[in-house]
Amino acid sequence: MEATNLTYLTLSISILTSFILYLLLLRPPTKSRNHCPFPNPLLGNLVPFLRNRHRFLDWASDLLSTSPTATIEVRGPLGLSRGVGTANPLVVDHLLRFNFSNYVKGDRTSTALSDLLGNGIFNADGHLWALQRKTASREFTTRSLKSFITDVVRSQLRNRLLPLLSAAADTGELLDLQDVLRRFSFDNLCTIAFGTDPFSLHHDNSQHQSHGQHYSFFQAFDEAVEISSARLLSPVPWVWKAKKFFNIGSERRLRGAIKLIDDYAMHITALKEEEEVKKQDLLSRFMSAIEEEDSELCAMFKDKKEKRKFLRDTVISFVLAGKDSTSSGLTWFFWLLAVNPRCEKRVHQEISQLVEGEEEDELGYDELKGMHYLHAAITEALRLYPPVPIDSRVAAADDVLPDGTRVKAGWFADYSAYAMARNERVWGKDCCEFVPERWLDGKGEFVGVETASFPVFHAGPRTCLGREMAYMQMKAVAAAVLRRFEVEVLVGSGGGEVAPPPYEMSLTLRMKGAFTVRVRRRVETSSAR
Ligand code: HEM
Ligand SMILES: *[C@@H]1O[C@H](CO)[C@@H](O)[C@H](O)[C@H]1NC(C)=O
Repeated sequence: MEATNLTYLTLSISILTSFILYLLLLRPPTKSRNHCPFPNPLLGNLVPFLRNRHRFLDWASDLLSTSPTATIEVRGPLGLSRGVGTANPLVVDHLLRFNFSNYVKGDRTSTALSDLLGNGIFNADGHLWALQRKTASREFTTRSLKSFITDVVRSQLRNRLLPLLSAAADTGELLDLQDVLRRFSFDNLCTIAFGTDPFSLHHDNSQHQSHGQHYSFFQAFDEAVEISSARLLSPVPWVWKAKKFFNIGSERRLRGAIKLIDDYAMHITALKEEEEVKKQDLLSRFMSAIEEEDSELCAMFKDKKEKRKFLRDTVISFVLAGKDSTSSGLTWFFWLLAVNPRCEKRVHQEISQLVEGEEEDELGYDELKGMHYLHAAITEALRLYPPVPIDSRVAAADDVLPDGTRVKAGWFADYSAYAMARNERVWGKDCCEFVPERWLDGKGEFVGVETASFPVFHAGPRTCLGREMAYMQMKAVAAAVLRRFEVEVLVGSGGGEVAPPPYEMSLTLRMKGAFTVRVRRRVETSSAR
């Protein structure tokens, strides 16, 4: 508590003094091309940033839309940070692909996340990243992993999510669908990553009572991500560093959360070393991949403990990467369908045709692949509400972007998939509307676009490894739910106009507060469950 106040106090003092200094000493700033409007020489864009913090993404989108090349230069306070932000597909292509080696994650990001992620794939640069990427992408494309993932998703749908929704439909109880989806995908992912199920979603809905009784793995991970990403978003990094040094407030909580995560991961890793039969989960796979194929990796470790730590880091990166992204995508997807009944109807039609005469079982991998309209609708939801709305890189050396913007070594270079979606020059006049049809050809088949215009899963050498898994999971959940239930949304719609619910920024885009819904069993579903 005191620590939060401390943050605000130091922040306000530094803002106040800078502002007074600015008023006393400096001439009014001049406007220049491609700059964020009126960068104040001392404060940079801090004041408008703070003023627009609650609608940050839309503010950035507006700025990027009015810039002639859809790239802007941004300045932090006191010259502490400087960089560019873009919504220009050519520039995105340059950052993520053509000049990949010049745009790294950088120290600021990796320091902020290093307590949680260590040297894991998500946080590493250079050689250490390349080594993990090679092993991970080989494992991620195996047929056996895909079918393992499908099995886990199907069985947890059947045994956990659907019973929970059925119960809510029977009692008419309201649900926070975002919370339900986040817990569900966390259980999914941990089962896939570690081979153990943390049971953060209980179908008897007892999570409400169990709060506060024991600090679960889910809560610890959540808290660790929350605090780590707040570090990233804080305008002045020394504040969290000081708190960490004194072990107070949020930094103290972070330390506790990470201790729990470490104990959990190291314990499972140690158990796996004893296992005779090779298991299907990621941890087991990476473990044997290191032993069998990657002598270079193997040679890096002095002892068992180091190897365990490395495996822990790799797998924790996967959990982080997949933990909130699919549930974020699904949350906005369900909201968008609710306010676009025309599209909801088409999705439901597609599912009904496919499951006609089928048993009650969940759809398989190939059936899900054949659902083009659902695929388009999910993709369209991801376009408008990208789970990673802004992604950041740091320039290693001076460079000139394809639109002429100069970048200096050490500057950040951010791209915003959220802003691109709202840019008429990228998506046309109807860019802000939810139109799944834009992804379909004349025969109703899904057609993708260049990743440069749709960098929702990133692009180039560091492109998302979980894309296929994410689609499979999102489609399986959407199909299973929409096949049986109508989802009535009780947020974000006031009066005739439908206002989007507010969002909040963490590492991923989150609906602010709860996504309150009521589920009803569809009447046309023949067999009642
Ligand atoms: C809708 C769901 C998802 C979206 C929109 C998404 C998006 C992204 C984005 C934007 C990045 C680049 C992040 C960065 O480098 O700063 C990324 C990286 C990554 N994603 Fe995903 N992701 C999704 C789901 C998943 C899932 C389910 C997994 C796996 C379990 C996963 C695994 C990864 C990994 C391992 C990386 C790091 C790749 C690297 O640095 O080489 N993602 N993803
Ligand atoms: C990439 O960045 C480097 C700086 O590391 C720069 O010298 C070079 O011209 C850039 N390459 C391209 C293709 O723009």
